Amino acid sequence: MQEMTFVYISLSGNTESFVSRLQTYLLIQNPSLTIHLIDIKSLVKEEQDFFFLNKPYVTFVPTYLEGGNGIDNGDVEILTTDVRDFMAYGENAFYCLGVVGSGNRNFNHQYCLTAQQYSQQFSIPVLDTFEMRGMQNDVERIAHKILEAYAAIHE
Ligand SMILES: Cc1cc2nc3c(=O)[nH]c(=O)nc-3n(C[C@H](O)[C@H](O)[C@H](O)COP(=O)(O)O)c2cc1C
Repeated sequence: MQEMTFVYISLSGNTESFVSRLQTYLLIQNPSLTIHLIDIKSLVKEEQDFFFLNKPYVTFVPTYLEGGNGIDNGDVEILTTDVRDFMAYGENAFYCLGVVGSGNRNFNHQYCLTAQQYSQQFSIPVLDTFEMRGMQNDVERIAHKILEAYAAIHE
């Protein structure tokens, strides 16, 4: 496995910081690896059309919900819906190896709920979650889960 692709969105910089540290960690482990980053926020800002992503990738999505309690009443996804739309575009969801969710534990039952909702909608696994910017142990644990997910498709 020589190539990975990460699709992400980051509104206040936490997910971007995590993805960047994850990329650095993976490249130190395996210098021959190439990691493509697709920043959905920039894509939308630059008014680029969505495209078919027909290679395996991992999605990183922070949680931004309005209303609801995460259990039995409605919550509305805000700010991250472009990621959902990108995944729903064409066959894109088919190539997603899984979603890594992030959030803030203060949101209790809604902690990292968007990743769970994507998992249900697209029938993909939640590979893992991390809080806010994530700690070094989150970077290392999630790096190994991603390596495993890529290795599994080559078995
Ligand atoms: C308006 C708003 C709503 C949020 N809702 C949730 C939520 O429902 N569940 C959760 O786990 N975190 C929630 N968060 C926390 C963010 O997911 C968290 O700060 C995350 O690290 C932001 O990632 P980013 O900096 O990459 O945008 C919310 C934050 C804001 C500002």
